[in-house]
Amino acid sequence: MLRANEIKNSNYVGKEVTIRGWVYRLRKQKENAFIILRDDRGGIIQTVFPLKSAAHLTIESSIEVVGIVQHDNRAPEGNYELKGKQIKTFNVAENTFPIGEYQSIDLLLDNRHLALRSRRMIEIAKIRSSILKFARDWFIKNDWMEVTPPTIVKAAVEGGSSLFKLKYFDECANLSQSAQLYLEAMIFCLGPVWSLTSSFRAERSRTIRHLAEFSHLEAEAPWIALEDILKIEEHLISYIVQNTINERYDSFAILKRDIHELKSIQIPFKRLTYEDAIEALSSKQIEITDPKGQKRTIRVGDDLNIDSERELTKYASEPVFVTGYPIEVKPFYVKEDPIHKGKGLAADLLAPGGFGEISSGGEREDDINLIKTKLEKDGLNPDSYSWYLDLRKYGSVPHGGFGLGIERLIRWMINSDDIKDAVLFPRTMSRVAP
Ligand code: 4AD
Repeated sequence: MLRANEIKNSNYVGKEVTIRGWVYRLRKQKENAFIILRDDRGGIIQTVFPLKSAAHLTIESSIEVVGIVQHDNRAPEGNYELKGKQIKTFNVAENTFPIGEYQSIDLLLDNRHLALRSRRMIEIAKIRSSILKFARDWFIKNDWMEVTPPTIVKAAVEGGSSLFKLKYFDECANLSQSAQLYLEAMIFCLGPVWSLTSSFRAERSRTIRHLAEFSHLEAEAPWIALEDILKIEEHLISYIVQNTINERYDSFAILKRDIHELKSIQIPFKRLTYEDAIEALSSKQIEITDPKGQKRTIRVGDDLNIDSERELTKYASEPVFVTGYPIEVKPFYVKEDPIHKGKGLAADLLAPGGFGEISSGGEREDDINLIKTKLEKDGLNPDSYSWYLDLRKYGSVPHGGFGLGIERLIRWMINSDDIKDAVLFPRTMSRVAP
């Protein structure tokens, strides 16, 4: 069976073809019906039928059309259309399809199962699939082993407050926030490993960059230092970006995303120290909420919040690694810099254009006592981490890795205001259906 885009060329002119799909747009005139048919990969083609053969059709009816390809400058997208000969109807859609041209965001989200038939959603899904394909491709080419860690777990990785608790038979468990601890266990016998899993965060933040469930690409390797990790991140990301914009040139065009910005991304990415970041923000009056819940302007010692990351990357044309965060604001597993005490051997990667953090990585703490102390300080029970602590007892090696949020990467690549655009069925604080 042919698809719309395959027949839009001069070789097919005058030939009879059969295409299956759905009625995407429908204009019934006195004598003719103009059907814009959407095939099963979102390609569209106009088909013209005498009104009497198409009178029964409604938006989203599923049909198979037989027609002759003809060139017509008035035809949308590509100047080719079909002069229809026959229609087979699989289903006449009810006349109540809720998605029209101008709908509220909430209505579209309530009807996501139908809204995902929109061209925008379809093209984003294609870009997403290429991103995942090229990510896997990069890891295969560079000899990393793909693994599948569990997502039902006992222990928190990124703090107890954002855990989704779960009744697990007769005990309690959680949905995984990150596969990192499991990947750390695997590097001792599998070497460099990577995984793509759903991570879950019960963050009570309704922001344009937080999901309750997101696709998390994580990688971990033995005998690796911070600078090696940053190199891996930048090589991987630029490989994904460049190959995806080549493969999905048409999708970016339909989304009206200017790809020159993405094309010009070069490695090495810029590095910015935490101190320089705070310095750059000092005149901007960025407000943060401190750990006691008080609002004040950002200063040395604070974590960078969404506003500071936006400010730092608003006018940037390339991704930037922020290095040397205070160890205090980083999770228990981050290794302290032995030379610059008080700083973590970790870095966040911020995307340009105001998008902010898309990835975070670094070296892992290997001092078992330090890990225990930090766990306690974060209100976590070291007993729940006994298996993780074993990794520091039996043949521990310097190691590290990173996590890349796939929807954050997509949001930047498609230049979208909202991370919900980057996933077909978004899970947020206020939405768990459809
Ligand atoms: O910075 P995070 O929390 O780091 C970790 O989870 C590490 N344990 C990963 C590792 O080193 N293996 O999350 C990593 C990335 C962030 O940079 C961000 O891109 C994404 O995951 N992320 C989210 N994406 C969407 N919604 C959320 N609520 C996210 N939280 C983190």
